[in-house]
Amino acid sequence: MNQTYALVPQPVSVKQGEGFFQCRGVPVISGDSIFKNEIDTVSAQFRADWERCGCADNTGGAAGKIFCKKEDMKEEAYRLLITQDAVTVSAGSGAGIYNGLQSLRQMFLGGCDEAVSIPCGEIEDRPRFGWRGLMLDCSRYFYSVEFIKKLIDTLSLHHINVFHWHLTDDQGWRLPIKEYPLLIEIGSKRREHRLSGRFSGGFYTEDDIRDVIAFATARHVEVVPEVDFPGHASAILAAYPGLGCTGGPYQVEDRFGIFEDVLCAGNDGIFDLAAAAFDTLARLFPSAYVHIGGDEVRFNNWNECPKCKKRLAETGLKTPQELQSWITVRLAKMLAERGKTAIGWDEVLEDTGQYKLPKNVVVQSWRGREGGIKASGLGHRVIMSSSKDGCYLDYRHSPDPEEIGQRWGKSTVFQGYSMDPITPEMTAEQAALVLGGQANLWSELIYAGKIAEYMIFPRICAIAESLWTAKEAKNFEDFKRRLPIHQERLDRLGILQYRGNLEG
Ligand code: ACM
Ligand code: ZN
Repeated sequence: MNQTYALVPQPVSVKQGEGFFQCRGVPVISGDSIFKNEIDTVSAQFRADWERCGCADNTGGAAGKIFCKKEDMKEEAYRLLITQDAVTVSAGSGAGIYNGLQSLRQMFLGGCDEAVSIPCGEIEDRPRFGWRGLMLDCSRYFYSVEFIKKLIDTLSLHHINVFHWHLTDDQGWRLPIKEYPLLIEIGSKRREHRLSGRFSGGFYTEDDIRDVIAFATARHVEVVPEVDFPGHASAILAAYPGLGCTGGPYQVEDRFGIFEDVLCAGNDGIFDLAAAAFDTLARLFPSAYVHIGGDEVRFNNWNECPKCKKRLAETGLKTPQELQSWITVRLAKMLAERGKTAIGWDEVLEDTGQYKLPKNVVVQSWRGREGGIKASGLGHRVIMSSSKDGCYLDYRHSPDPEEIGQRWGKSTVFQGYSMDPITPEMTAEQAALVLGGQANLWSELIYAGKIAEYMIFPRICAIAESLWTAKEAKNFEDFKRRLPIHQERLDRLGILQYRGNLEG
């Protein structure tokens, strides 16, 4: 048994005392009735973790005791008091209790062999940022519901609280929309998966989606869906060629890239499709946010297309770039009518001269930090996920040519550890608009859940610490000491991990 807590992410304050809380068997969690859901969820996790160890629990519920207690505390904050007799988790909310229990779960994952010994002490903890996310691209590769649940469960062990579900892209549309059945019939079937040689297709049924959301909600993880407009639209166009500028023919892409064929800005049908998609999302997803993409739109067709040119003339806009802004504004308004707030990739900030982006649109900075700096300067809330700062998990862990991942970038554990969503250029007002940050896993090369695990862990452990832990409490040397202990916990959960050089 480890003699220190070695938690990831590192809590705000840790005081270790004398003696140990010892537990033989699966501990019994009880407490205030408002925490019933958390107690049920975590009790099941403890039991499953225990069973993974292969040990029998013969205690008949007489093992160590964990109490959950309501106290006045900030949302998500918790206190753990560990004595020789019991552990008390205090929090003001279910989210806080869940976070405290996950820290405790980490300690239990380090033990077993039929008994766990945890040093007595007291931990006080609260997050630095409220938005701590991971995006999974389920278009280029279709991940199973089972894998997504395993991932969400393991993310929540690190207090990651947003699962950004990338549901549409050139290589596959995964969201059923009643009014547009061909999105699934045609758009969900990638022609071929060149790398794996496997046919890659599929979609999530409404029941699958509800199942994932319920699973995530029980773990205090918010599921934020993304449908990408008006670029990355090959799957839509293959299903509904009339929505493109040229009329096609189009196909669900089987290559990675940025494609010329995007939705036609002059065709009102694209807003009918968006309305149906937003209605479906609003019905299924409780999150206040819908991500509308907006990245990497090619304008060559818009320059040639008579319908797009007509739209330009009607709107009094000069460039196709401005037309994208006009579309974004309209989509954001449609979402607002449905009680949702739009999030867009940082391209949505460009050429917004005449059709200004509504202030409540959240900007996700990915091409660097600049988008986040600019957006917060304009009064937008910001999610930082810079591809230059370790947040792109499709990049290689190191320059080793034998590592899997995109060739054009590298994201080391150290970069993820060093990233700070608040940059020195930001004023205090701008910093206050930074919701937090995210890691993103694009899946063109990641054609199995096992490979996804290898790309996500342990980089997300470092990023979780960047998003959760107070800046003053961060220390890479100390993280390096804790990480091997933590990776053994992840081994126990059956997570495949990178174990090479942390600094690339
Ligand atoms: C992106 O990586 N295209 C957002
Ligand atoms: Zn057009």
